[in-house]
Amino acid sequence: MAFRLICFLFPLLLTQPCSTTVQSYQIISLGLSLTALDDNTSWPSPSGEFAFGFQKIENGCFLLAIWFDRIPEKTIVWSANRNNPVKRGSNVMLTEDGRLVLNDQNGKSIWRADTAGRRPAFAAMLDNGNFVLANYDSDNLWDSFSQPTDTILPAQTLIQGSKLIARYSTKNYSTGRFVFTLKSDGNLELCTTAFPFDYDDSCYWSSKTGGSGFRVIFNQSGEIYLEAKNKTMLTNLSPIVPSTQDFYHKAILEYDGVFRHYVYPKHPSLRDAGWPMKWSPVSFLPLNICLQLTENEGGGACGFNSYCSLGDNHRPNCKCPPGYTFLDPDDVMKGCKQEFVSQNCEEASQAADLFHLEAKENTDWPFSDYGHFKTVSEDWCRNACLNDCFCAVAIFRNGECWKKRIPLSNGRFDSSIGGKALIKVRDNSNLKPDSSRNNNHSALFIIVSLLLSSSVSLNFLLLLGAFLAVFCFGYGKTKKIQLETTVQGINLRSFTYSELEKATNKFKEEIGRGAFATVYKGLLAFDSGTVVAVKNLDTMMRENEKELKTEVGAIGRTNHKNLVHLIGFCNEGEHRLLVYEFISNGNLAKFLFGNSRPSWYKRMQIAFGIARGLFYLHEECSTQIIHCDIKPQNILLDDSFSARISDFGLAKLLKADQTRTATAIRGTKGYVAPEWFKNLPVTVKVDVYSFGILLLELICCRKNFEPEVKDENEMVLADWSYDCYKAGEVNLLMQNDEEAMQDIKNVEKFVMIAIWCIQEDPSLRPTMKKVTQMLEGAVEVSVPPNPSSYISSIGSF
Ligand SMILES: *[C@@H]1O[C@H](CO)[C@@H](O)[C@H](O)[C@H]1NC(C)=O
Ligand SMILES: *[C@@H]1O[C@H](CO)[C@@H](O)[C@H](O)[C@H]1NC(C)=O
Ligand SMILES: *[C@@H]1O[C@H](CO)[C@@H](O)[C@H](O)[C@H]1NC(C)=O
Ligand SMILES: *[C@@H]1O[C@H](CO)[C@@H](O)[C@H](O)[C@H]1NC(C)=O
Repeated sequence: MAFRLICFLFPLLLTQPCSTTVQSYQIISLGLSLTALDDNTSWPSPSGEFAFGFQKIENGCFLLAIWFDRIPEKTIVWSANRNNPVKRGSNVMLTEDGRLVLNDQNGKSIWRADTAGRRPAFAAMLDNGNFVLANYDSDNLWDSFSQPTDTILPAQTLIQGSKLIARYSTKNYSTGRFVFTLKSDGNLELCTTAFPFDYDDSCYWSSKTGGSGFRVIFNQSGEIYLEAKNKTMLTNLSPIVPSTQDFYHKAILEYDGVFRHYVYPKHPSLRDAGWPMKWSPVSFLPLNICLQLTENEGGGACGFNSYCSLGDNHRPNCKCPPGYTFLDPDDVMKGCKQEFVSQNCEEASQAADLFHLEAKENTDWPFSDYGHFKTVSEDWCRNACLNDCFCAVAIFRNGECWKKRIPLSNGRFDSSIGGKALIKVRDNSNLKPDSSRNNNHSALFIIVSLLLSSSVSLNFLLLLGAFLAVFCFGYGKTKKIQLETTVQGINLRSFTYSELEKATNKFKEEIGRGAFATVYKGLLAFDSGTVVAVKNLDTMMRENEKELKTEVGAIGRTNHKNLVHLIGFCNEGEHRLLVYEFISNGNLAKFLFGNSRPSWYKRMQIAFGIARGLFYLHEECSTQIIHCDIKPQNILLDDSFSARISDFGLAKLLKADQTRTATAIRGTKGYVAPEWFKNLPVTVKVDVYSFGILLLELICCRKNFEPEVKDENEMVLADWSYDCYKAGEVNLLMQNDEEAMQDIKNVEKFVMIAIWCIQEDPSLRPTMKKVTQMLEGAVEVSVPPNPSSYISSIGSF
């Protein structure tokens, strides 16, 4: 039915819980209704940003909902019947006597707005996303803002006793496993529900404001915070906010138990500033859901028998241990089941032969213990579990052994855990890495023996022999060619010099020049036009061919999203060139020290990226790589402005003393760690030092050394930062950076981490692993000492 409006478009004061705002609206008069059909009938707000009506969901049913109507995703922010979707033909009616009723396809009433007996005169969909029933005195008799589902919007307030209940999964809107609740005692908590019931069960985050918390406010500028009755802010839930002018905002307790604040650009022009046209999260609570759940009951963030590792956007990544598969691949949070028959307890020790243990580092199920042994060896622990039919997993860590039984709960994988999980798996489950190859072999064997046992003529055997000879010869040949074009088994392409000459159009477009190489843009015509960066190494780098192969091999084996990938190389005569993927958005120096300041949020993301990339180079890739030249020029930004470390793995190509001199020449006081000049061994900690300086530059958006500044105390950022930190005035570093000032706690934390990184004594500097954990909030940051308190024999450098 077409929707008939009495078209008043006039501003009216509507009383709202936290503020009185003037909203223009169109009246939806009594007697109107909407029917759930396939043509999306809805009542839009005057600006068209929100709409109220029926929206079709996954299974063909409809929700009576409110959604963002201007964006292609039509993101739902509220619904009346989340647990009871209706079919086509259902309708919602604003009856003549002022009731808002949802009837299903059979005309049965399944929901109504409760106006406590008072009679509304009209309804209206407001431009802020609130749907109201009001009378002509402008009293707000019912509104959707007071009945939130899982989402809140700017201008919305949560009073004591309200809660947001997460949906079950991304596409299933029914009430799920987590709740965000402002208790009547004033404590704001994130808890699991006792699913399928929606009361809270066990809480994993709390504002600790019992007695003082009064309401949660999502204000018009997009800030979300808990305030006391006297209007003091108690807990800031989302301190980093792009403007509500340019972005749509929503905060939602998601199906994974994380409360996220999202923004969506209102104009495509924001894409150039690095904002994709989609919902991007700007803050998270808690930071690591995998580690945060500490309840004894329940399956944790990923369900029983699974384990959780933190993925992008602080999303839990649920995985099954070896030998287990998802109960329901479409709902991975339901957990995992064993794929094999468990150990038979009658003959456990015999049966032990049928099982083996698969080790997984840094994995634990902290709450399924039934046995704990101290001062034992790993071998002991392995045998103890293998010979015990109850044992599904043993955890071995620092000489201690824990036995775990099924169902395993609260599994997690995190580099802070340490030790390893030894997971019991039956031998013949299809896990053995070479089982498929064995099968092929036996198949071949059967065919050959069949041939031999049947009455085969000699001719045929001769033929077979000839065929095999050719086959082997040919095989040997291809193998030889492959050996030449790959480095130690890595799939790196070997280019000829003329190929690269052609790709770069005779080295026409120079895109960068460093101390030991020049970089050109190129196009691989034969590889469907892939754009590449070709790095031509200078003579100093060309000496040791074997070294080059080893290093290129090590670089080629790296694979991490925060590194620039090596595609191939050329090693022909005097020519030494490396071919990398082309990274589109230039380097960090340009981004950071250019005309407009990138947002604090983006800078934080970049810091995370660099830290993760370095952590990978230092500890996670097969050959440890020390970068030795971390600086903004060597950090590139890809199309989503994620940090990509470039030029890693090349340091060793310079001979040891060349490295020192070369670096000394290249290094500005900034990024080069003091031990370079002291003939101390160069370790991964030199990169930590450079990262520290870079982190300060990221925080403050200025170069470490700025001779131009008026106050000479501010000339060297590293010194000035420590002075400010010591004096408790980190804010001085953030001149005019409103966004960062709003997030001053994190700024201070980042400064502290940077100060730890630039300690003169390398042994005081944290590892990149620790740095990553500190940045992500997984471990506390302690008070750093003065970076130069160590010695000063070279202090005057
Ligand atoms: C209804 O909405 C869907 C999804 O938003 C859209 O693809 C479709 O074209 C709409 N139909 C009408 C008639 O507007
Ligand atoms: C959503 O999840 C609930 C809880 O598991 C289930 O009962 C319901 O059938 C699901 N709905 C859809 C549309 O899949
Ligand atoms: C406001 O209330 C909070 C918590 O009840 C209290 O800590 C704070 O001191 C109060 N502030 C003022 C200015 O009264
Ligand atoms: C929102 O809250 C922040 C922090 O309290 C405040 O600075 C800002 O002015 C508020 N905005 C509005 C529109 O009230």
